[in-house]
Amino acid sequence: MKCLPKKIGIIGTGHLAGFLVEGMVKSGADCEFTLSPRGAQTAASLTEKFGAKIGTDNQSVIDVSDLIIIAVLPDIAKNVLEGLKFTNSQVVLSTMAGVSHATMSELVSPASTACTMMPGLSNSLGIGPSILYPNNPVAESFLKALGPVHTFTDWNSYQTASVFGGFSGNTFIFMKQIIDWFISQGLDDITAKNLIAETLRGNAEALLQSPLSVDELISTVATPGGITARGAISLKNDGADKAWHDALNAISQKIKSTQ
Ligand SMILES: NC(=O)c1ccc[n+]([C@@H]2O[C@H](COP(=O)([O-])OP(=O)(O)OC[C@H]3O[C@@H](n4cnc5c(N)ncnc54)[C@H](OP(=O)(O)O)[C@@H]3O)[C@@H](O)[C@H]2O)c1
Repeated sequence: MKCLPKKIGIIGTGHLAGFLVEGMVKSGADCEFTLSPRGAQTAASLTEKFGAKIGTDNQSVIDVSDLIIIAVLPDIAKNVLEGLKFTNSQVVLSTMAGVSHATMSELVSPASTACTMMPGLSNSLGIGPSILYPNNPVAESFLKALGPVHTFTDWNSYQTASVFGGFSGNTFIFMKQIIDWFISQGLDDITAKNLIAETLRGNAEALLQSPLSVDELISTVATPGGITARGAISLKNDGADKAWHDALNAISQKIKSTQ
């Protein structure tokens, strides 16, 4: 992590800011956070738990930071950033879904700019993947402390990949639906939650470690005429594959409509 600056500022002290500060502190990285004062309750809690400082206003956060993370909601990005002053030695990392690199570069000039997307919660555990556009050693070393990093050299591919941010949150909704079914059939809450989470963690690890393609893996677990095949037929008949396809298209359209 030799490119990681010590002084990191965050504009937008909400849920994501909390995950980032927690993940960095747990990683043992030698850095100090200064947070913007809005989201006062979260800021106070991050000060108490992790020793983060709180700026008097957004400009004061920028003035003491070498890496500045922008984590406000995408539709207020312009209003928040217009009028703030950056220097050419600073790096600004935008976490805002859909706000384009071109727009960010204009808003924070002369600082250098990069854009990222991440799941958030798993980054607080140091295992959340991030995507990054374009390559930026400072931003990359920050994200690497929070999980694996995938760097993109063209904006269109980055935008497509950023759909995974919405997909990530939807997997929690998916897991809740499955957990609730087991509970409705009489399993206790903890067993249902652990069984589903452990199954998905194990399968994800198998996918990451196996040399086989996804189709080959499926053929090893789906015994012809067995229970996986029975479930797959029901899912197909009820349009589950189309529903996921449509959801990913909807997330993609929302990202592309922000700019
Ligand atoms: N949550 C995630 O896991 C996640 C993951 C990836 C990317 N993101 C991206 O991260 C961004 C933030 O998401 P979030 O979930 O953290 O949202 P959030 O919890 O609503 O946090 C946004 C924060 O921005 C603050 N804010 C509002 N106006 C401001 C201003 N003028 N100056 C400074 N701060 C201001 C809000 O303060 P008040 O409460 O006082 O209004 C709030 O604390 C979004 O663009 C989202 O796309 C989030």
